[in-house]
Amino acid sequence: MADTTLSQRLRAATEVIHQQTESLPFAARLMAPDLDRDTYARTLARMLGVIGPLEAAVTEADRDGALGFLPLPQAGSIVADLFRLGWDEGRVGGLPLAPLPPGLDITPAAAGVAYLLDGSLLGGRVVARRLRDSLGPEVAGSLSFHADDPAASQQWQLCRAWLDGLPADWADGAEAGALSAFTALRDWMAGAP
Ligand code: HEM
Repeated sequence: MADTTLSQRLRAATEVIHQQTESLPFAARLMAPDLDRDTYARTLARMLGVIGPLEAAVTEADRDGALGFLPLPQAGSIVADLFRLGWDEGRVGGLPLAPLPPGLDITPAAAGVAYLLDGSLLGGRVVARRLRDSLGPEVAGSLSFHADDPAASQQWQLCRAWLDGLPADWADGAEAGALSAFTALRDWMAGAP
């Protein structure tokens, strides 16, 4: 195991939770050929309720530069998508937020959260392709599902290089952070309407 990089370790540690997340009804709805705009918007809105707090936790962890990295912002793009889909500020502002376990806003746990956020851009590539077919290119806009954007795939390379260069004594905490963040996300998305 000595040759395992931190990014490989995080992938292995979260593999089962990822599969469980991918198997939830929200994912099947997103990937369905007959997905409609309203269902898409409600799914994005639910996602925002957990991506927003996770993003805020990482930003907080890096307030004094302690993390040394920030994942690509996704919450703002999701909000912009919701506006484009006809939601107004009141409806977006009133969305419920996922409860997060404590400690994700400090290092090294926040490194695991950053992994989760930037790693999700990879799966976003697959989702984006389906959305373009079901909803058309003009709707399939959000960055979180738009990972064939060259900036997004470059971001993943940066994130991986950053993770793999972190001090070895961050690894256990980063893994614990990735696991508890992914668990919170899975449980939140399990409650998607
Ligand atoms: C419709 C639901 C989803 C599908 C179909 C999906 C699919 C995928 C696929 C195919 C990959 C691997 C891509 C590659 O190796 O090039 C991937 C990676 C990943 N996904 Fe998902 N995903 C979904 C949902 C999510 C969600 C909601 C999150 C968390 C926000 C997430 C987090 C990740 C992470 C962290 C990776 C990186 C794994 C690694 O290489 O370390 N995924 N996903």
